[in-house]
Amino acid sequence: METFQSLLAKRLSDALAKAGLPNAGELTPATDRRFGDYQTNAALVLGKQRSENPQTLAERVIVRFDIGELCEPPTVAGVGFINFTLRADAIARKAGEVLRDERLGVARTKSTRRIVIDFGSPNVAKPMHVGHIRSTVLGDVLARIARFLGHEVIRDNHVGDWGTQFGMVIYGWKNLLDRQALQRNPLAEIVRIYKETNERATRDPQVREACRQELVKLQAGDKENIDIWNECVAFSMQDFEHVYKLLDVHYDIQCGESFYSDRLPAVVDGLLKSGVAEISEGAVVVFFRDESELANKPCIVRKRDGGFNYATTDLATIDYRMNDLKADAIWYVVGAPQILHFKQIFEVARRESYKADFRHITHGSILGDDRKLMKTRSGENVPLRELLDEACKRARKIIEKKNPDLSEADKTDIAHKIGIGAVKYADLSQYRMTDYVFSWEKMLSLQGNTAPYLQNAYVRIRSIFRKAGESVPKIDKFTLGDPAEINLAKRLCQFAEIVPQVLNDFRPNILANYLFELANSFHTFYEACPVLKSEEPSRSSRLALCNLTGRVLGRGLDLLGIKVPEKM
Ligand code: ARG
Repeated sequence: METFQSLLAKRLSDALAKAGLPNAGELTPATDRRFGDYQTNAALVLGKQRSENPQTLAERVIVRFDIGELCEPPTVAGVGFINFTLRADAIARKAGEVLRDERLGVARTKSTRRIVIDFGSPNVAKPMHVGHIRSTVLGDVLARIARFLGHEVIRDNHVGDWGTQFGMVIYGWKNLLDRQALQRNPLAEIVRIYKETNERATRDPQVREACRQELVKLQAGDKENIDIWNECVAFSMQDFEHVYKLLDVHYDIQCGESFYSDRLPAVVDGLLKSGVAEISEGAVVVFFRDESELANKPCIVRKRDGGFNYATTDLATIDYRMNDLKADAIWYVVGAPQILHFKQIFEVARRESYKADFRHITHGSILGDDRKLMKTRSGENVPLRELLDEACKRARKIIEKKNPDLSEADKTDIAHKIGIGAVKYADLSQYRMTDYVFSWEKMLSLQGNTAPYLQNAYVRIRSIFRKAGESVPKIDKFTLGDPAEINLAKRLCQFAEIVPQVLNDFRPNILANYLFELANSFHTFYEACPVLKSEEPSRSSRLALCNLTGRVLGRGLDLLGIKVPEKM
């Protein structure tokens, strides 16, 4: 289905051609709704290009613009913007199309690709903590949206399961392990032995050496060490799986670092053979002498002692994703501290002639009240499991107050949807690069740009139908009169414009903000326009508007990985 934006853009392009002008600029929703619904800067861009007066150019274009039944005659404003105002009739018709469409107007993209999305990717032998929310939730949403738009998505958890930490974990396991503690809380015990070994190793060079030996043995395939490693990985994965279940996040594959361990020598050989890497002081290194940004930042792919690096694994990973998985694009949803790392490996991949669209999708941090990285009172990372449990607990209190008569099972279910939804939405409604302060009060508030506010709007709509015992009326076309209902219908038509936009710069906050505005438009409409008490054909039209709003809210939140309750 064509959106208003694409329809207007086509007609603009025709008008430009008729005026003997090429396409230029952009057609976007109006920044100031008082002047119209959409605007274009085409005349401004052309004016600059050809040193002509943009207002005169704009006038030349608008007289050739075919308004049809779509919009009012366009107007020129300010220095040469062209504004378009949709006709209520066109809105009523388009909203009718959206109403009948399963996909709510959102078209499948024409150029579908196979996209590997690498997100979450925690390190084993440590519990997932609050810092993992962003990558996990953002990656999940991008995957949902890309899939909805028709791309073939492979969600990959690139678990850090083969790092140097294992030297210490294995040493600790052999020398410090408390079996009973392991049974009670495996991950806590693994973290304890790891930390204690780490402390000893800093004090005692002998322990340090012993840890190194354990790592060498592990990498050489020593049976005992492999068994210990396997057990540790399994315990960690259990913790991760628990969190993924709470978050409703799924992976198609989980190829961790260890998956690539026996491919690393070949990667280095390949780089040497192609001349991309060279031997320098006994190590194998890629230099970026003529890349200004990376000039003094060589990438070591094999250390002097023969060991491989994080970068080597990532290069092996690229090879696998390109040659085995046949990816057209690889998206890495990983925090900003790894910007340099990805610049390096993308450049190496380019030199090795891997032709995929590589994207590092970075994000900022979650802060505590003190505006520093969020930590527990004792300065530890906040375990994600505990944080999510707390979210549900707090949501439960809200429900007890709001609707004490619900059944136990309903309360638990709704608390889960609200609690987890609140944590996700607090993250997704921010621009991903912004650091934000984690605040229970704010994210769980029933007012403002929060998940509970949107869920509540959805529930209110559902209850209109429940209370009235009404089913959804079948209408061909909306009957729109009141400005509040015209405005709501217009917003509903925009869902199809917003969803694809999220992927332009990987910004789910665009969708979050749209849903917030939609809920606001709905409340304004609901206050201004009686629904059940109005006369036909308004009554059916308004009921259908309610229905469509509920569907768009539900689908939008679903794309954000947020569930909607039927009551709350
Ligand atoms: N395990 C890494 C970390 O916790 C993130 C991995 C990201 N993905 C990748 N292909 N390097 O920092």
